[in-house]
Amino acid sequence: DPAHVPVLCVDGPSASGKGTLSTHLAKTLGYHLLDSGALYRIVGLAARRTGLLQDEGEPDAEAIARLAASLSIRFADGCVWLDGEDISDAIRTEQGGMDASTVSAMPAVRTALVQLQHSFRKAPGLIADGRDMGTVIFPDATLKVFLTASAEKRAQRRYNQLISKGFAARIDDLRADLQARDARDTSRAVAPLQPAQDALPLDNSDMDVKTSVQLVLDWWQDRQPFP
Ligand code: DC
Repeated sequence: DPAHVPVLCVDGPSASGKGTLSTHLAKTLGYHLLDSGALYRIVGLAARRTGLLQDEGEPDAEAIARLAASLSIRFADGCVWLDGEDISDAIRTEQGGMDASTVSAMPAVRTALVQLQHSFRKAPGLIADGRDMGTVIFPDATLKVFLTASAEKRAQRRYNQLISKGFAARIDDLRADLQARDARDTSRAVAPLQPAQDALPLDNSDMDVKTSVQLVLDWWQDRQPFP
Protein backbone atom coordinates (compact mmCIF):
# COMPACT_ATOMS: atom_id res chain seq x y z
CA ASP A 1 0.00 0.00 0.00
CA PRO A 2 1.67 3.25 -1.19
CA ALA A 3 0.11 5.16 1.73
CA HIS A 4 2.51 3.29 4.05
CA VAL A 5 5.60 4.20 2.04
CA PRO A 6 7.55 6.95 3.87
CA VAL A 7 7.97 10.28 2.08
CA LEU A 8 10.50 13.04 2.78
CA CYS A 9 9.58 16.34 1.09
CA VAL A 10 12.10 19.01 0.11
CA ASP A 11 10.30 22.19 -0.97
CA GLY A 12 11.71 25.65 -1.61
CA PRO A 13 12.43 28.35 -4.20
CA SER A 14 14.44 28.06 -7.43
CA ALA A 15 18.11 27.16 -7.09
CA SER A 16 17.93 26.78 -3.31
CA GLY A 17 19.78 23.48 -3.64
CA LYS A 18 16.76 21.16 -3.50
CA GLY A 19 18.02 19.02 -6.36
CA THR A 20 21.46 18.47 -4.85
CA LEU A 21 20.11 17.80 -1.36
CA SER A 22 17.37 15.48 -2.64
CA THR A 23 19.76 13.48 -4.83
CA HIS A 24 22.12 12.91 -1.91
CA LEU A 25 19.27 11.94 0.42
CA ALA A 26 17.85 9.48 -2.11
CA LYS A 27 21.25 7.90 -2.66
CA THR A 28 22.06 7.63 1.07
CA LEU A 29 18.67 6.22 2.06
CA GLY A 30 18.27 4.11 -1.09
CA TYR A 31 14.94 5.81 -1.83
CA HIS A 32 13.20 6.79 -5.06
CA LEU A 33 13.42 10.40 -6.17
CA LEU A 34 10.71 12.64 -7.61
CA ASP A 35 12.00 15.80 -9.34
CA SER A 36 8.60 17.45 -9.75
CA GLY A 37 10.13 20.61 -11.24
CA ALA A 38 11.36 18.47 -14.15
CA LEU A 39 7.75 17.49 -14.88
CA TYR A 40 6.70 21.14 -15.23
CA ARG A 41 9.80 21.83 -17.30
CA ILE A 42 8.92 18.94 -19.64
CA VAL A 43 5.37 20.23 -20.05
CA GLY A 44 6.75 23.73 -20.74
CA LEU A 45 9.13 22.36 -23.36
CA ALA A 46 6.47 20.25 -25.04
CA ALA A 47 4.03 23.19 -25.04
CA ARG A 48 6.60 25.46 -26.65
CA ARG A 49 7.55 22.88 -29.27
CA THR A 50 3.95 22.26 -30.26
CA GLY A 51 3.24 26.00 -30.44
CA LEU A 52 0.81 25.99 -27.51
CA LEU A 53 3.18 28.34 -25.66
CA GLN A 54 4.27 31.49 -27.50
CA ASP A 55 5.70 34.82 -26.49
CA GLU A 56 2.55 36.60 -27.61
CA GLY A 57 -1.03 35.92 -26.61
CA GLU A 58 -2.84 34.01 -23.86
CA PRO A 59 -1.97 30.29 -23.88
CA ASP A 60 -4.78 27.69 -23.88
CA ALA A 61 -4.38 26.10 -20.42
CA GLU A 62 -6.82 23.27 -21.12
CA ALA A 63 -4.94 22.27 -24.27
CA ILE A 64 -1.62 22.34 -22.39
CA ALA A 65 -3.16 20.22 -19.61
CA ARG A 66 -4.32 17.65 -22.20
CA LEU A 67 -0.81 17.66 -23.64
CA ALA A 68 0.62 17.17 -20.12
CA ALA A 69 -1.61 14.15 -19.54
CA SER A 70 -0.60 12.60 -22.86
CA LEU A 71 3.19 12.81 -22.48
CA SER A 72 5.27 9.71 -21.97
CA ILE A 73 7.86 10.77 -19.36
CA ARG A 74 10.60 8.52 -18.04
CA PHE A 75 13.47 9.02 -15.60
CA ALA A 76 16.22 6.50 -16.30
CA ASP A 77 20.02 6.25 -16.40
CA GLY A 78 20.31 9.68 -14.77
CA CYS A 79 18.48 11.30 -17.70
CA VAL A 80 14.97 12.57 -18.40
CA TRP A 81 13.23 11.05 -21.41
CA LEU A 82 10.29 12.43 -23.34
CA ASP A 83 8.81 10.07 -25.89
CA GLY A 84 12.19 8.35 -26.23
CA GLU A 85 14.26 11.56 -26.54
CA ASP A 86 16.85 12.56 -23.91
CA ILE A 87 15.75 16.09 -22.95
CA SER A 88 17.83 16.44 -19.76
CA ASP A 89 19.74 19.48 -21.03
CA ALA A 90 16.92 21.03 -23.06
CA ILE A 91 14.74 21.48 -19.94
CA ARG A 92 17.54 23.09 -17.87
CA THR A 93 17.83 26.34 -19.84
CA GLU A 94 16.58 29.65 -18.39
CA GLN A 95 13.83 29.69 -21.02
CA GLY A 96 12.89 26.20 -19.85
CA GLY A 97 12.61 27.49 -16.28
CA MET A 98 10.41 30.40 -17.29
CA ASP A 99 8.15 28.17 -19.42
CA ALA A 100 7.89 25.70 -16.54
CA SER A 101 6.86 28.53 -14.24
CA THR A 102 4.20 29.67 -16.75
CA VAL A 103 2.57 26.25 -17.20
CA SER A 104 2.87 25.47 -13.49
CA ALA A 105 0.56 28.41 -12.72
CA MET A 106 -2.24 26.69 -14.68
CA PRO A 107 -4.56 24.75 -12.33
CA ALA A 108 -5.50 22.25 -15.05
CA VAL A 109 -1.84 21.43 -15.67
CA ARG A 110 -1.21 20.85 -11.95
CA THR A 111 -4.22 18.55 -11.78
CA ALA A 112 -3.02 16.63 -14.83
CA LEU A 113 0.28 15.85 -13.06
CA VAL A 114 -1.04 14.72 -9.65
CA GLN A 115 -1.44 11.02 -10.44
CA LEU A 116 1.95 10.79 -12.10
CA GLN A 117 3.56 12.33 -9.00
CA HIS A 118 1.75 9.93 -6.64
CA SER A 119 3.01 6.99 -8.72
CA PHE A 120 6.57 7.73 -7.57
CA ARG A 121 5.63 6.70 -4.03
CA LYS A 122 7.09 3.22 -3.95
CA ALA A 123 8.92 1.12 -1.34
CA PRO A 124 11.26 1.56 0.38
CA GLY A 125 10.63 5.33 0.35
CA LEU A 126 10.50 8.57 -1.62
CA ILE A 127 12.35 11.88 -1.61
CA ALA A 128 10.00 14.44 -3.20
CA ASP A 129 11.60 17.65 -4.52
CA GLY A 130 9.45 20.63 -5.49
CA ARG A 131 7.27 23.55 -4.38
CA ASP A 132 4.08 21.88 -3.14
CA MET A 133 5.24 18.40 -2.15
CA GLY A 134 4.43 18.89 1.53
CA THR A 135 1.40 21.15 1.08
CA VAL A 136 -0.52 19.48 -1.78
CA ILE A 137 0.95 16.27 -3.20
CA PHE A 138 2.13 14.42 -0.06
CA PRO A 139 0.46 16.20 2.90
CA ASP A 140 0.94 13.07 5.05
CA ALA A 141 4.74 12.97 4.53
CA THR A 142 6.90 11.85 7.46
CA LEU A 143 9.22 14.85 7.19
CA LYS A 144 8.89 18.16 5.32
CA VAL A 145 11.91 20.37 4.80
CA PHE A 146 11.56 23.91 3.49
CA LEU A 147 14.91 24.81 1.96
CA THR A 148 15.95 28.42 1.36
CA ALA A 149 19.08 30.39 0.54
CA SER A 150 19.71 34.08 -0.17
CA ALA A 151 19.00 35.34 -3.72
CA GLU A 152 22.71 36.16 -4.04
CA LYS A 153 23.82 32.60 -3.22
CA ARG A 154 21.15 31.06 -5.42
CA ALA A 155 22.13 33.21 -8.41
CA GLN A 156 25.77 32.26 -7.88
CA ARG A 157 24.93 28.54 -7.74
CA ARG A 158 22.76 28.64 -10.86
CA TYR A 159 25.53 30.57 -12.62
CA ASN A 160 28.09 27.88 -11.76
CA GLN A 161 25.63 25.18 -12.84
CA LEU A 162 24.99 26.76 -16.25
CA ILE A 163 28.64 27.57 -16.95
CA SER A 164 29.71 24.02 -16.07
CA LYS A 165 27.20 22.73 -18.64
CA GLY A 166 28.62 25.06 -21.29
CA PHE A 167 25.72 27.54 -21.31
CA ALA A 168 26.44 31.27 -21.41
CA ALA A 169 25.10 33.19 -18.41
CA ARG A 170 25.19 36.59 -16.68
CA ILE A 171 24.81 36.66 -12.94
CA ASP A 172 22.70 39.86 -12.89
CA ASP A 173 20.23 38.37 -15.38
CA LEU A 174 20.07 35.18 -13.36
CA ARG A 175 19.34 37.02 -10.11
CA ALA A 176 16.59 39.04 -11.82
CA ASP A 177 15.10 35.87 -13.37
CA LEU A 178 15.16 34.06 -10.02
CA GLN A 179 13.41 36.93 -8.30
CA ALA A 180 10.77 37.17 -11.04
CA ARG A 181 10.17 33.42 -10.85
CA ASP A 182 9.99 33.48 -7.03
CA ALA A 183 7.42 36.27 -7.18
CA ARG A 184 5.28 34.34 -9.65
CA ASP A 185 5.61 31.00 -7.84
CA THR A 186 4.77 32.61 -4.49
CA SER A 187 1.83 34.71 -5.63
CA ARG A 188 -0.04 32.29 -7.90
CA ALA A 189 -3.52 31.22 -6.83
CA VAL A 190 -3.02 27.43 -6.95
CA ALA A 191 -0.42 25.66 -4.84
CA PRO A 192 1.74 28.75 -4.26
CA LEU A 193 5.27 28.28 -2.98
CA GLN A 194 4.69 28.28 0.77
CA PRO A 195 6.12 26.25 3.62
CA ALA A 196 3.76 23.56 4.95
CA GLN A 197 2.63 24.34 8.49
CA ASP A 198 4.61 21.37 9.79
CA ALA A 199 7.72 21.98 7.64
CA LEU A 200 11.16 22.43 9.19
CA PRO A 201 12.93 25.48 7.70
CA LEU A 202 16.51 25.09 6.54
CA ASP A 203 18.56 28.05 5.28
CA ASN A 204 21.63 26.64 3.57
CA SER A 205 23.17 29.97 2.44
CA ASP A 206 26.28 29.34 4.51
CA MET A 207 26.21 25.55 4.68
CA ASP A 208 28.00 23.05 2.50
CA VAL A 209 26.14 20.12 0.94
CA LYS A 210 27.52 17.56 3.36
CA THR A 211 26.35 19.52 6.40
CA SER A 212 22.81 20.06 5.12
CA VAL A 213 22.49 16.40 4.07
CA GLN A 214 23.62 15.25 7.52
CA LEU A 215 21.24 17.66 9.23
CA VAL A 216 18.24 16.33 7.30
CA LEU A 217 19.33 12.72 7.85
CA ASP A 218 19.38 13.43 11.60
CA TRP A 219 15.86 14.89 11.40
CA TRP A 220 14.77 11.82 9.42
CA GLN A 221 16.29 9.50 12.02
CA ASP A 222 14.40 11.32 14.77
CA ARG A 223 11.11 10.66 12.96
CA GLN A 224 11.58 6.89 12.75
CA PRO A 225 9.17 4.93 14.92
CA PHE A 226 11.75 2.34 16.06
CA PRO A 227 15.13 4.00 16.47
O1 DC B 1 12.53 23.34 -9.36
P1 DC B 1 12.55 23.82 -10.79
O2 DC B 1 13.33 25.08 -10.98
O3 DC B 1 12.97 22.75 -11.74
O4 DC B 1 11.02 24.18 -11.14
C1 DC B 1 10.64 24.73 -12.37
C2 DC B 1 9.33 25.47 -12.22
O5 DC B 1 8.27 24.55 -11.97
C3 DC B 1 9.29 26.50 -11.10
O6 DC B 1 9.25 27.81 -11.61
C4 DC B 1 8.01 26.25 -10.36
C5 DC B 1 7.41 25.03 -10.97
N1 DC B 1 7.17 23.95 -9.99
C6 DC B 1 5.94 23.91 -9.38
O7 DC B 1 5.11 24.77 -9.62
N2 DC B 1 5.64 22.90 -8.52
C7 DC B 1 6.54 21.96 -8.24
N3 DC B 1 6.22 20.98 -7.39
C8 DC B 1 7.82 22.01 -8.83
C9 DC B 1 8.11 23.03 -9.70
